[in-house]
Amino acid sequence: MHQQAIDKVNAASRHPDAQAGFVRQLDLRIARHLSQLSPAPARLAEAARDAMSSGKRLRPYLLHLVAGDAADSDAVLDMAVALEMVHTASLIVDDLPAMDNALLRRGRPTTHARFGEATAILTAIGLLNHAISIANGLEGMDDRQRGALVAILSGVMGWQGLVAGQELDLNGFSDADDGGDALGRITRINALKTGALLCAAVEAGAILGGREDDKRSLLRRFGEDLGQAFQIADDLIDMLSDSAATGKDCRQDAGKETYLAVYGADEALRRCRALLASADEALVGAGLTPDPFRSMIDAIFTPMLDRVPQAAPKAGAAR
Ligand code: IPE
Ligand code: IPE
Ligand code: MG
Ligand code: MG
Ligand code: MG
Repeated sequence: MHQQAIDKVNAASRHPDAQAGFVRQLDLRIARHLSQLSPAPARLAEAARDAMSSGKRLRPYLLHLVAGDAADSDAVLDMAVALEMVHTASLIVDDLPAMDNALLRRGRPTTHARFGEATAILTAIGLLNHAISIANGLEGMDDRQRGALVAILSGVMGWQGLVAGQELDLNGFSDADDGGDALGRITRINALKTGALLCAAVEAGAILGGREDDKRSLLRRFGEDLGQAFQIADDLIDMLSDSAATGKDCRQDAGKETYLAVYGADEALRRCRALLASADEALVGAGLTPDPFRSMIDAIFTPMLDRVPQAAPKAGAAR
């Protein structure tokens, strides 16, 4: 069978090689983009390669799955690189001394720990800039689609996404922000700092895959619920696991108003599973084949939730 056909079968099934195959392709594409940074200073390029060199690649894979028939196109791969650049930049910034002040990320020293704060900040800015230029240069689509993809990326970086979420996460809501009650504040922060980028991946996948407009709001709900569940699970492991298991500093968010801090571990687990069930319902409602998404979600959430020292049922048991 032709390789493209094999890949398609994998992508539509529970085949465990499907995600690994995509990640291999993505890593090659990332390496190709980062090899073209010249004339950027070599040290800056090295910092970018180091920061981009691992990770679960959740956002790129979500894009790939939602893109459906277009999943193996150059445009999807390039957009996947752009999303991972934005995500990686957000991690570099999140780890800075002025933010979470973390020393370990993806099992290695954080970018500022290895290259210094100034280079870390410049690497993050360079990656954000590079992501926009990738989206701007996407081929095989009309100007309206390209413009929509650029708008998704610039929106998620800024006031409608990461920048806003990180400000509220670190400095809280002012009276003028009207955050509502604790649940409202937590939900808003998680939506901005985490959910927005997952939604961006899903929305970009819907555009590249030519999904019908009437499915977009269900797909958006899928991304939003997944984002809320992901941050609740991340906060659980931040508090209840250790760096050897997570590859990043733990107890970073002690003292913050998280779902775990306000409602406790049992309720956080219950809420996480309920959100995953709601995400799954939205996915099915949008008419997407749920199996590969379920495999991906199980593969990510089950190890996270299993680290919580409770009788945590498998993530998939929420369905
Ligand atoms: C970490 O995201 C940041 C959060 C939103 C909690 P990931 O857990 O997806 O990080 P990598 O890419 O796998 O390192
Ligand atoms: C997640 O916040 C959102 C971003 C990194 C933008 P966290 O501060 O909880 O993420 P980790 O735990 O450091 O990955
Ligand atoms: Mg943080
Ligand atoms: Mg952090
Ligand atoms: Mg965290």
